[in-house]
Amino acid sequence: MYVETVKKTMKLPKTVRILDTTLRDGEQTPGVAITVDEKIRIAKKLDKLGVDTMEVGFPASSPGEMRAAREILKLGLNSQICGLARVLRSDLDAAIDTGVDYIHTFIGTSPLHREYKLKMSQEEILNKSVESIEYIKDHGITAEFSAEDATRTEFSYLKEIYNAVEEAGVDYINVPDTVGVMVPASMRWIISEIKKTIKVPISVHCHDDFGMAVANSLSAVEAGASQVHVTINGLGERAGNASLEEVVMALTSQYNIKTNINTKLLVDTSEFVSRITGIKMPPNKAIVGENAFAHEAGIHVHGVLQKAETYEPITPEMVGHTRRIVLGKHTGANAIKAKLEEYGIELNKDQFCKVFDQIKKLGDKGKCVTDADLKAMSETVLGRA
Ligand code: KIV
Ligand code: ZN
Repeated sequence: MYVETVKKTMKLPKTVRILDTTLRDGEQTPGVAITVDEKIRIAKKLDKLGVDTMEVGFPASSPGEMRAAREILKLGLNSQICGLARVLRSDLDAAIDTGVDYIHTFIGTSPLHREYKLKMSQEEILNKSVESIEYIKDHGITAEFSAEDATRTEFSYLKEIYNAVEEAGVDYINVPDTVGVMVPASMRWIISEIKKTIKVPISVHCHDDFGMAVANSLSAVEAGASQVHVTINGLGERAGNASLEEVVMALTSQYNIKTNINTKLLVDTSEFVSRITGIKMPPNKAIVGENAFAHEAGIHVHGVLQKAETYEPITPEMVGHTRRIVLGKHTGANAIKAKLEEYGIELNKDQFCKVFDQIKKLGDKGKCVTDADLKAMSETVLGRA
């Protein structure tokens, strides 16, 4: 409702492209290593999900990464297949050798990266970036350029390097918030300023060090970004990247912006990636967590049973989830009645009160009451146990 009001003050894009980097930045999650075969299985899922581009790895980093890119390309998927490369001829050649359609090339641009990591001047970095874009374009491949640590780079230099790669023929410029230092207001500012000088589509890549990767990605879209880098389940270096499921559902349901994602496959994809990577989602994870559509408090359950929107912003069906009514300390009579009805159990008033009291007592002892517990309690009061 309030989003509708503020949306009128923004010039939002009609569609946003989704670049999924689960298989590259997502694989950089500490403790996660994905085999070539697993990458192939995830790539098929991502393609079915509808990601526009999938970054499948960093071909120059290992023979396995090269093989994964080649094998994924052989599948003939609908998504564009992207490989990561530093602005180095050897990295670019490795990516080109795999046959990818899209190369995401990057170099650190902030003073920290220039001084401590690269030991290169602004001019050297700019020249290497331009040469790399020209090289990618000479091979007829889509080129995206990232100024790594863009959000800690002097703004005048950032603009200069983005302008130079644009002149060299880049297809997308990407603004990585490499260590997640932005807040929504600063993200809105930087993207709107870049937009004043850059004509090619602007992409963003937000990390979640302060828990703001999704909010910052949305702010970037508000300011004119038309592509967002995301990962399934928000996997990624340190605290991770912006989560695909959260960004996509906010874009579609809150901003009315279209993506090519089949949102009904979100939970299935999230569970699949979680099984393969071994990274479990917390139950309260937005959109795909086990509790995302679970209700316990009597007041909430009563509301949801009358009209789901009272306590659900979107339906579970939209994302391939299911609604759950959970019994516990906060349960009200309506929830228990609904569960009994679901299981075809009929209790008289007295029997119902006994079950109700038992549930409350268990709840007060800090216990959750499962559906199996409810059935057992009912059997007991019915004298069948
Ligand atoms: O976070 C980052 O800056 C990256 C780059 C490779 C774009 O992942
Ligand atoms: Zn990253």
